Amino acid sequence: MKVIRSIDQLQRELLKFNKQTIGYVPTMGFFHEGHLSLMNTAREETDLVVASIFVNPLQFGPNEDYEQYPRDEERDLKLAKENGVDVLFMPDVGVMYPDKASITMKVVKRANVLCGRSRPGHFDGVVTVLTKLFNMIQPDKVYFGMKDAQQVAVVDGLITDLNFPIKLVGLPTIREDNGLAKSSRNVRLSKEEVFEAQSLYRALIRGQQLVVDGEKDPATIIQDVKQTIRHHTDGKIDYVELLSYPALEEITIINEQIILAIAVQFKHARLIDNLVFNKFGQIIERLR
Ligand code: PAJ
Repeated sequence: MKVIRSIDQLQRELLKFNKQTIGYVPTMGFFHEGHLSLMNTAREETDLVVASIFVNPLQFGPNEDYEQYPRDEERDLKLAKENGVDVLFMPDVGVMYPDKASITMKVVKRANVLCGRSRPGHFDGVVTVLTKLFNMIQPDKVYFGMKDAQQVAVVDGLITDLNFPIKLVGLPTIREDNGLAKSSRNVRLSKEEVFEAQSLYRALIRGQQLVVDGEKDPATIIQDVKQTIRHHTDGKIDYVELLSYPALEEITIINEQIILAIAVQFKHARLIDNLVFNKFGQIIERLR
């Protein structure tokens, strides 16, 4: 595995792999099985696997955890190597953003719901960094986790709007045995909170089961999910929303593919989770 920190070196390295398909996994590091499953799938489906680690300041709000975002370079290098990564790109902030921006990007669709509403500017930062990384790496396929399903939907819009010749793949959320979605931020939960946090997934499954049982009213399901979370955690509900997916539009009746998504603020970590399912309640784990 080649570890690369400059753009020149990255491009020199990628030129050597002329005509092979490139699979790309963008990350902010502090790897867990979620990240590793993206790498392993890229390994299976493409010739050259590129991963990046870059904690992107542009996508963090002023009161968010940019400075505290967990980092462990040594461990990440080892895990990337063991999970089939050929090229690991780890630029510094100065490499990615050498000058004050002369252009900014703004997500205007799907950005004022879910995390986009709670984190203004977040997805603008995500699409900006991804546009730069896509241009530097020029991948054939990019791999994202459905854990961040809104991000997948927004990146779908980015690829379509800007005509990137890239295929987007959304892969299943990897969970702990108790259902808690793996996240780099889980290390900031207290022991009690780790226990409480499993109720997020339970609440989603309850909501999905209601749809399986024939419930068509989004409000009824949202109410039920909120109750479960309130009953089992001291975390503060940021949102519980049920929207069409991937359009992320409000619906009044469940008659299409939907996302049931939640965000809960614990003391030192804000957790998100979701399920995407069809109108019969059948879960859709992988997108394309
Ligand atoms: P990060 O949070 O490091 O996540 C990198 C990728 O791992 C994302 O596609 C995310 O959805 C996926 N992932 C996280 N937890 C997962 C889980 N439990 N199961 C499956 N996949 C999971 O998302 C970002 O970084 C950044 O916004 C980035 C796209 C790199 C842009 O800066």
